[in-house]
Amino acid sequence: MLICLNSSLMRSSSGLAPSRSIRSILDFSQMRSGYGRSLFEPLLPLILGRDISGEVAALGGSVHSLSVGQEVFGALHPTAVRGTYADYAILAEDELTVKPESISHVEASAIPFAALTAWRALRCTARIKQGQRVLVVGGGGAVGFSAIQLAVAFGCHVSTTCGGECIARILAAGAEQAVDYATEDYEASINGYFDAVLDTIGVAETERIGINLLKRGGHYMTLQGEAASWTDRYGLAVGLPISTAILLKKQVQYRYSHGIEYWWNYMRADPEGLYEIRRLSEAGKLKVPVDKTFSIKQVREAHDAKDKRLIPGKVVLEFD
Ligand SMILES: NC(=O)c1ccc[n+]([C@@H]2O[C@H](COP(=O)([O-])OP(=O)(O)OC[C@H]3O[C@@H](n4cnc5c(N)ncnc54)[C@H](OP(=O)(O)O)[C@@H]3O)[C@@H](O)[C@H]2O)c1
Repeated sequence: MLICLNSSLMRSSSGLAPSRSIRSILDFSQMRSGYGRSLFEPLLPLILGRDISGEVAALGGSVHSLSVGQEVFGALHPTAVRGTYADYAILAEDELTVKPESISHVEASAIPFAALTAWRALRCTARIKQGQRVLVVGGGGAVGFSAIQLAVAFGCHVSTTCGGECIARILAAGAEQAVDYATEDYEASINGYFDAVLDTIGVAETERIGINLLKRGGHYMTLQGEAASWTDRYGLAVGLPISTAILLKKQVQYRYSHGIEYWWNYMRADPEGLYEIRRLSEAGKLKVPVDKTFSIKQVREAHDAKDKRLIPGKVVLEFD
């Protein structure tokens, strides 16, 4: 169940009848163990959950693009305090779009946060265009697989590194090369140089290889930006300037040494991106495989299973 309000009109959701709706699980074990504490600790208790697919229960007065009873999907901004692990969630109009009839709530709920993260990197940061070459490091994951499908839809030539079990799925989605990171020397195996590298893994080795595989003028984007780790360690007032200085230093350093643009990328709500994600999902060109669903009452088991890496892919929580 969703309550869609203009962001300036957030209200309590009490008094509304619940109905069936779905949430997908992101990697919240890091948040539970303190990641982002500099931001979230003063705001506790908070509700986890970002992705959602469900039915609009009520609307703010200034919302015109949606109606009560409509089936929608979308994702909250990463810094949201009241998440989607609840009977009702409150989202702004630009965080939601109409769910295609051709996909289920379970399928829809797995898509938006991952795909918007990929969209932000590829379209807003690197501004990829038809004919360009894109490398996705970690193409088997939700963000990486979304990035592959978005880049293919834009007419790019896509290569990726991933676990061996994902290769067939990735090639079927239109990637031209998929290299098993666990068994191959992917630095040597990946063909040619790229206009954009999206690194979903973001460790020192993938950063070095990703940067070395870029053409001059290309964009390296990591999802493992250091802002949260520095602010968690030293607080917002000290940690934020430190992380900004580190980012600027790397940007200047790589511009001089390799002639490339270096970025930390973060998900952000984007109505244009969400519209495109909806269009591609409806056309069957953008999917995020769901490995298992749990009832919202089993959220602890669902998180345990993800923490212990018992389930490799997306997990979705269902509400009765
Ligand atoms: N900055 C942001 O706003 C933002 C937003 C969303 C996600 N994230 C972060 O981005 C990362 C990816 O998210 P996700 O949802 O796509 O995760 P995910 O679904 O868990 O996928 C991770 C994938 O990476 C693969 N992998 C692991 N090590 C690899 C390596 N060295 N080279 C290539 N592939 C490797 C894994 O394969 P195996 O299973 O074979 O190990 C798995 O398929 C997470 O760390 C997440 O926290 C950041």
